[in-house]
Amino acid sequence: MQLKNDLLLRVIKGEAVERTPVWLMRQAGRILPEYRAVRASVSGFIELAQTPALAAEVTIQPVDLLGVDAAIIFSDILVVPEAMGLPYEMVEKRGPWFPKTIGSAADLKNLRVADPNTDLHYVLEAIRLTKKGLNGRVPLIGFAGAPWTIFAYMVEGSGSKTFSRARAMLYQNPVLAHKLLDLITKTTISYLKGQVAAGVNLVQVFDSWAGILSPDHYREFSLPYLQKICEAITEVPVTVFAKGAYFAMDDFAGMACDTVGLDWNMNIDEIKRKMNGRKALQGNLDPAALYAPDEALVAQTRAMLVRFAGSRHIANLGHGVYPDTSPEKVKLFIQTVKEFNTTAEN
Ligand code: CP3
Repeated sequence: MQLKNDLLLRVIKGEAVERTPVWLMRQAGRILPEYRAVRASVSGFIELAQTPALAAEVTIQPVDLLGVDAAIIFSDILVVPEAMGLPYEMVEKRGPWFPKTIGSAADLKNLRVADPNTDLHYVLEAIRLTKKGLNGRVPLIGFAGAPWTIFAYMVEGSGSKTFSRARAMLYQNPVLAHKLLDLITKTTISYLKGQVAAGVNLVQVFDSWAGILSPDHYREFSLPYLQKICEAITEVPVTVFAKGAYFAMDDFAGMACDTVGLDWNMNIDEIKRKMNGRKALQGNLDPAALYAPDEALVAQTRAMLVRFAGSRHIANLGHGVYPDTSPEKVKLFIQTVKEFNTTAEN
């Protein structure tokens, strides 16, 4: 179906656009009271994510209520370990927790490469319902975690400031680490292909824990697997968002992805030079800027847009929107991007 608003896809292709497209990482499922109402009607996050009609409803909410230029399917990166045989729980106010973790070759034997059509059927069904509900209004983004970030949760068993258990494995048993990363990569590729077949218009890979690895470890344990995913997904554009990976920007410039997501620590002038027009750029307002008074938020947003001028830019935050952000501030951010005219103000 022809999309009514395809700004995002046109920017990625390098076509001329009337204005910069805008969406927010974690726009579904954090900030909207309308989301909390749906969430309160079920037992918790996992039930919501596994009920396609409700997942589709909360995916579309930010399009209706905030006016973003893309929807991102409501799910989580941790559905992948679960589909591989390692279930998780979402502990209220604490985040994800895995009753079992991967620490040895024996643990690996209990894992499998998942088949998305059965193991992740509910996500694919939610995508199909969302596409119907969107009716071509905006593109739908599919996503998965990067193999390194998924590995970090599977080995650590929960969120962590240091992910020291996960990083210890890279030093103690690199062979096992590569085996696990390979299993995750295979699952991720068939999962993303399943999402494409179900109707997503582009995909984003979240390497949320890129920044805790040394550059050498990042090159050994993350980049080759990201590259495999980017090479395998040829049907739709691929965005790679690697939080904290400023040291790998030369590698991303040469990767088979279409768009590079940037956090707010990145030096945009330097990145524009490094990418040299080869990638669309997405980001990168500090999510904490949405706590600023209105005038300061508008000024910060405009300053960001000016910094990206001359590149193929998709406006976004530098990481997910924080849960206690006011929807009014999010609307102001979106409105500021939509009203900004780079040529007139630059
Ligand atoms: O726009 C969206 O929010 C779409 C859905 C989405 C979720 N998780 C839903 C969710 C997306 C894109 C994600 C990605 C995700 N999940 C990442 C990568 C992005 C990033 O923020 O770095 C990561 C690292 C996770 C893992 C995860 N899931 C954590 C650490 C947590 C707990 C803290 C938190 O973010 O709330 C989750 C839980 C989670 N994922 C919730 C939602 C709506 C909250 C669960 C609840 O309602 O109880």
